[in-house]
Amino acid sequence: MMDAPDGGPVVVERAAAKINLALHVTGRRGDGYHLLDSLVTFADFGDRLSFAPSRRDAFTLSGRFAGDLPHHDDPETGNLVLKARNLLRDAAGQAGGEVGPVHIHLEKNLPPASGIGGGSADAAAVLRGLSHLFDTKLGWHTLAQLGLSLGADVPMCLASRPLIARGIGEVILPATGFPRLFLVLANPLLPVATPAVFAALENRHNAPLAIDETLPVHPPDWLLLVQKSRNDLQLPASRIAPEIHGVLDALTSAGASLSRMSGSGATCFGLFVDLESAIAAADRLSHARPDWFVAATATLAEGEDDHV
Ligand code: C5P
Repeated sequence: MMDAPDGGPVVVERAAAKINLALHVTGRRGDGYHLLDSLVTFADFGDRLSFAPSRRDAFTLSGRFAGDLPHHDDPETGNLVLKARNLLRDAAGQAGGEVGPVHIHLEKNLPPASGIGGGSADAAAVLRGLSHLFDTKLGWHTLAQLGLSLGADVPMCLASRPLIARGIGEVILPATGFPRLFLVLANPLLPVATPAVFAALENRHNAPLAIDETLPVHPPDWLLLVQKSRNDLQLPASRIAPEIHGVLDALTSAGASLSRMSGSGATCFGLFVDLESAIAAADRLSHARPDWFVAATATLAEGEDDHV
């Protein structure tokens, strides 16, 4: 916790970009949500949120993508940050605590609707940050439940470390021994609507990831697993946004040993041997395509702490 210029406490949380290295769609629930088996890691960059107690609630935005987001808390169309604040406030109140008036600032660095979980990571950061600032004493499982009611990806963003996500995303297993990866993320800045991509799936009953239940004790060769897996949403998303083919080709041409889409797109990642080659490739790509969002990242290894 830091101090605000007026002497009050400020909590700062990073909302790291989520990267689905593999995403297998293995079935569908009665309510229409899809069952997944996904290998997920997190970038060392993302949005950034700060929380400071204030006389009245306030919400301010800055950053490259601030203009693309709503400022209000309408239950349907409002900003997920404010929905998460309201939800946490209610839950803390019911548990005998209090989330008081707060100024939330969101530095929006991640493109919205882009398959790297920006909105979900923001909501998770609100749950973590406000819970810490107001000492709500709500445990991880309660926060994860609240998060799940905001979106299927929010619990994994609460964890924000290498993991396997199952169910609709709420069953989380740590990816024991998962290495640091060097990636380039590229997005043509075409928002892709997640429900449309799931609806365009032809096959909803695909094989799960090739890992067994001894995972916590005998971790697999993670890189081999990434190579042998896929993103089942890549094909339907590419039909909706054919530019995705161009993004994958551009990453491969820039030297990636593997290129794949994350989440429901349109962000794709390319895998590089080290940070220098990832940064060099990202530089070339962003010069060639100044209209795209391009970023190099060293992801967190499993067990490593995130530093804001
Ligand atoms: O939970 P979230 O709001 O992120 O999901 C957006 C939409 O994506 C859902 O309404 C659903 O159509 C689709 N979805 C799905 N299966 C998942 C996650 C999302 O079908 N596991």
